[in-house]
Amino acid sequence: MKAYYLIKNGKSETAFELKDLHLNEPEDDEVTIETEAFGLNFADVTARLGYYKACPPLPAVIGYDVVGKIIKKGGNVKDLKIGQRVTALTRFGGYATHVNTNQSGVVPIKEDTDAGVALALATQYSTAYYAAEYSMNLQKGEYVLIQAAAGGVGTALTQLAKRKGCIIYGTAGNEGKIEYIKNNGVDFPVNYRKQDFYEYIKAQRGEKSIDAIFDSIGGNYVKKGLKLLAPGGRLAMYGAAQIVGDSNKKSLFRQLKVLFGFGKYSPTQFFGNSQALIGVNMLQIGDYKPYILKKCMTDVVDLYNKGEIKPVIGKIFDASELAEAHYFLQKRKSTGKLVCKW
Ligand SMILES: NC(=O)c1ccc[n+]([C@@H]2O[C@H](COP(=O)([O-])OP(=O)(O)OC[C@H]3O[C@@H](n4cnc5c(N)ncnc54)[C@H](OP(=O)(O)O)[C@@H]3O)[C@@H](O)[C@H]2O)c1
Repeated sequence: MKAYYLIKNGKSETAFELKDLHLNEPEDDEVTIETEAFGLNFADVTARLGYYKACPPLPAVIGYDVVGKIIKKGGNVKDLKIGQRVTALTRFGGYATHVNTNQSGVVPIKEDTDAGVALALATQYSTAYYAAEYSMNLQKGEYVLIQAAAGGVGTALTQLAKRKGCIIYGTAGNEGKIEYIKNNGVDFPVNYRKQDFYEYIKAQRGEKSIDAIFDSIGGNYVKKGLKLLAPGGRLAMYGAAQIVGDSNKKSLFRQLKVLFGFGKYSPTQFFGNSQALIGVNMLQIGDYKPYILKKCMTDVVDLYNKGEIKPVIGKIFDASELAEAHYFLQKRKSTGKLVCKW
């Protein structure tokens, strides 16, 4: 058994080391999975750079999603079988050939499901599904804004909002990504390196014109987003990607800039406009409402099996190319899901 350990915060080349992994027997509610591949998520970059508070102390095995076969299970696991191929959410521990994880984040998949698709369904689609269905309760005909629409969660949100009959504004950072989000269902793409998304939407529809905003950038993006929110509107914040830049050094200045960028809000403003600012954190859902996590994962696997959603694999790396894969994500080159195969 092997795993890539995060041994040091900072640049990718020196951050990870492949080492032997010792795994305990699975706990009562856990299964042990022998993995084929693991996925990358933006939170992994924030963990590498030392920004991620929930990251275990180093050395630590990070990683949120794996695909593979169940080889052992704990005494309370009834619905999953040894030998079953599954997609799984891991609360860290994913960059490994073997992993123990709670059954609430494990869902069987077909033998012929592409490994990358399975990984995208685990973290990014289940997050998007939870945000779209539970937090935002998207309705047909609503105007939606999705930030970083070309990313893993953004790709999923676009497909889920389209499926609901929403009209979608989406942002992305280069022309290649603009083409990608158009093809994925965004009706009004905005290259936010060329054009301010707030000014663009304000000019087209005015302020108070968007019903649901999905924000993974944080800071002033949220502040501007709130000005675009219609009465009855909701803004879900589920990330603060702005904290990460090209530098591999943690920057307090950057963190403060993002923090102050949010501005100040009062509950009366939300009450007065019948609006909601909603946080989404799937780790908390997994810890406190594991049945909802299971339902989200089961539902997205079903939607995929029925052909209603189509996860996109941005790039497949060999596990030994983990350092390059991290830079690919950090430097905003990726679209869809990034996969590392053993
Ligand atoms: N709360 C939760 O439970 C949860 C779960 C999963 C993911 N997330 C969050 O959801 C977001 C998307 O995750 P993902 O894994 O699917 O990543 P991703 O969207 O595939 O990649 C992040 C994207 O963010 C955009 N971005 C904007 N400002 C950036 C900056 N300063 N530095 C780097 N990227 C920047 C980039 O797109 P452009 O080039 O188009 O700007 C980049 O491609 C992340 O913020 C992640 O932390 C949260």
